[in-house]
Amino acid sequence: MVEWLPSSSTRILFVIGDPVSHSVSPPMHNRVIRRLGLDAVYLAIRVPGEILGSFISLARVNNVLGFNVTIPHKVAVASLLDSLDESAELTGCVNTVRVRGNNLEGFNTDVAGVEKSLKNAGFKGGGAAVIVGAGGGARAAVLALLSMGCSITVLNRSLERALSLKKHFAEKGFSVEVRGLDEAPQVLSRADVVVNATPVGMGSWEAPFPPGLLRSGQVLLDMVYTPHPTRLVKEASEKGVVSIPGVEMLVHQAAESFEKWFGVMPPVEEMREEALRRLRG
Ligand SMILES: NC(=O)c1ccc[n+]([C@@H]2O[C@H](COP(=O)([O-])OP(=O)(O)OC[C@H]3O[C@@H](n4cnc5c(N)ncnc54)[C@H](OP(=O)(O)O)[C@@H]3O)[C@@H](O)[C@H]2O)c1
Repeated sequence: MVEWLPSSSTRILFVIGDPVSHSVSPPMHNRVIRRLGLDAVYLAIRVPGEILGSFISLARVNNVLGFNVTIPHKVAVASLLDSLDESAELTGCVNTVRVRGNNLEGFNTDVAGVEKSLKNAGFKGGGAAVIVGAGGGARAAVLALLSMGCSITVLNRSLERALSLKKHFAEKGFSVEVRGLDEAPQVLSRADVVVNATPVGMGSWEAPFPPGLLRSGQVLLDMVYTPHPTRLVKEASEKGVVSIPGVEMLVHQAAESFEKWFGVMPPVEEMREEALRRLRG
């Protein structure tokens, strides 16, 4: 028996990016949309940069409830929206848009994704945080860890990008120390919490720094979620590091987006189960 079919009044949600075919957001969201009996559907749509502006305009004149934004549009989309909340304003990156009437409102739920993942693993905040990487994910981690009372050091391959992150946060009134990735041994030894915000390890058995540099008592969040677990998470947990796989952040940022659109928190456990099922193949 057919239980639900989309109609012309169905609310539309999607993730835009380029590429976007690998995204596990559609199954994660559709599973809980169906569970809660909502008349909505979530799709993945490839949007090359040159049509980003016109594509966004379509969201204003269709039955769109909101959308997620992924690589490479998280920065560019911010200037096309009507308003930004604090998380989007302070990071300069948007991963979630809510359509309210004719208004497009931008949020960065990656920030809450980092914070919830760390808190659920028992990290209470404070101390020295080291973030490896200086792109969009790193900016979300900086804001989350600043709000948890940590001092921040960013380690990045190119010092130029790290300095641009430092300047961005200095203009918002926040202090971030930056170092080259070659200083990882000294900087990581002083860390209480470490976040990998590079794509290193995604689809490979590499790590952004030797996992042996970490020690028991530290907390690690690896934003990379495939393979599950990554080499970094596997080897760090074998050393007694509290190691959080990227799927945790993936699920929590998704749940926060869902809450922005529908006004209720989805069953997070069910989102995690669906994400893991897809990531494990
Ligand atoms: N789990 C989640 O929910 C979640 C959310 C957001 C992001 N992520 C993941 O986090 C990762 C980073 O995303 P992003 O949006 O921040 O990317 P991004 O803006 O492109 O930034 C990537 C950063 O990684 C560094 N990097 C890239 N390749 C490297 C290498 N081979 N060695 C050392 N450093 C390298 C870059 O350094 P340079 O400046 O030197 O190029 C840059 O600082 C991606 O894998 C993404 O999928 C996961």
